[in-house]
Amino acid sequence: MERITINSHNHIYDVYIGKSIISEIFNIHKEFLINKKVIIITDKNVYKIYHKYIFDEFCKIGCESKFIILDPGENSKDLENIYRIYKELIEFKVKRTDVIIAFGGGVVGDISGFIASTYLRGVDYVQIPTTLLSQVDSSIGGKVAVNFMKIKNVVGSFYNPRFVIIDIDLLSTLRKEQIIDGLGEIIKYSFISDEGLIQTLEEHDLNTIKDCFLKIIIDCIKIKKYYVEKDPYDLNERKILNFGHTFAHAMESYLGYENISHGMAVGFGIYILLKNCNALGIISCSLFKRCLNLLNKYNVLRQEGLDTKHILDYAYKDKKSSNKEIDIILLHDIGKPYIKRIGLDELNIYLS
Ligand code: GLY
Repeated sequence: MERITINSHNHIYDVYIGKSIISEIFNIHKEFLINKKVIIITDKNVYKIYHKYIFDEFCKIGCESKFIILDPGENSKDLENIYRIYKELIEFKVKRTDVIIAFGGGVVGDISGFIASTYLRGVDYVQIPTTLLSQVDSSIGGKVAVNFMKIKNVVGSFYNPRFVIIDIDLLSTLRKEQIIDGLGEIIKYSFISDEGLIQTLEEHDLNTIKDCFLKIIIDCIKIKKYYVEKDPYDLNERKILNFGHTFAHAMESYLGYENISHGMAVGFGIYILLKNCNALGIISCSLFKRCLNLLNKYNVLRQEGLDTKHILDYAYKDKKSSNKEIDIILLHDIGKPYIKRIGLDELNIYLS
């Protein structure tokens, strides 16, 4: 088992990564969990497969537990749902000293973290991510938010978990599309880190890459740790983690969140950006070819015609753009990302 400690603005927490480690970690944190009410927020799909297993684990250490079950998907991330959860917490007499468990993918993590950060001015929460995407990215770094007025993540905060358990056994029940979803973010990490991660991806394919998940997840979390510790509130360096995301977010809003996974959208965002960077002479042909090979090999590239006007409209509305400028993430080479502030009217240069 690997333990990575994150120190985010003096909030220090451990991320445990391994295989079949949930029991062991609950034991390590027995003193923290014992005699508490444990509220497990999950979705219907995860509940169906794992509820007995996780319930028994909490029974073993003497916790009174209760599930709150959400519909899967981005539509659950709205304030109506949040009101319902607050109501359940009040009915169940949850106190500030109790604990919330986020047991699911990114949507469950976001909702649980948002609830934990606001209910009774903040209760402890633990992340147990169950998808590849949430294991490599969203369970770390404390970004928690919900959608409002159809604007993604517009209401939220930074609120770090007490600890995070990443158990790769949980990946065995994922569908192929969910693995591909995670690979979109992993490919992003491979471009902003050194050659190691990209070489692993190049040496494998969709059938064999599963054997490397443990190492890949550890690599991604080490990269995320670096940026999150340097810039916990996403004001400077952490923006590098958004490589490919400007166009990815526009794509998701254009097609609808239920019609394209986040990882596929990131794949598209990286493709369109590097294709144009190559045409502009900002990156080499060989780097663009490596990018294209990876995206194709892992099925992370869906060829879409995208209305550039829509992207520009989206960028104007994006909470991350200030005045008439936006920060985009470019690469000099593998492992050499940089932030470039451009006028929104320059964005179309990267979009043809
Ligand atoms: N997913 C990007 C970040 O956490 O900053």
